Amino acid sequence: MSDHLTVVDHPLVQHKLTLMRDKGTSTAGFRRLLREITQLLAYEITREMPLTTTTIDTPMEEMEAPILAGKKLALVSILRAGNGMLDGVLELIPSARVGFVGLYRDEETLQPVQYYFKAPEGLKDRLVIAVDPMLATGNSSAAAIDLLKEAGANDIRFLCLLASPEGVERMKELHPDVPIVTASLDRQLNEKGYILPGLGDAGDRMFGTK
Ligand code: URA
Repeated sequence: MSDHLTVVDHPLVQHKLTLMRDKGTSTAGFRRLLREITQLLAYEITREMPLTTTTIDTPMEEMEAPILAGKKLALVSILRAGNGMLDGVLELIPSARVGFVGLYRDEETLQPVQYYFKAPEGLKDRLVIAVDPMLATGNSSAAAIDLLKEAGANDIRFLCLLASPEGVERMKELHPDVPIVTASLDRQLNEKGYILPGLGDAGDRMFGTK
């Protein structure tokens, strides 16, 4: 992917995103919509995956048919909200390996604190898709990418539902080689680091913790 930021403006994505932003949407509805949007965003982020061909027999004749060229994929969920995006991508790419980065945001400093890291083997040979619904300050996203790079990853993409201008800038500054795919570039962050207009706390909304 050549662009640093891709905003997927497909009508289905935008429609579902509006439903997710609405504070009246139930926890179950929010989770279902997140899975559905993630699949549509994953379609975009995997668009340039290399293809090769294989010989198959259709009921009519033999053909050389396209098939993924086998660059292995690792999905990395940035806990905890990233887990809401995992299932959607795994339904499309069931053979992907899965890793987890546990970071929480210190509410005072807004800086990320690491509490867990587990990644699949051979990250250096994989396309790594890191998922986190909210690219807010960019601090935890950038820290998660740091950890993935330290573990060997060199072809990383970042998939999120909403991005703030501040978060995109931070990622561009620290990880210009990591393309971002999102459903919306929102207006700004508030003083607590929440995205406006946003959708609130994505983890709380998907797990019903508030
Ligand atoms: N994390 C969230 O869940 N929501 C925001 O608006 C910002 C960070």
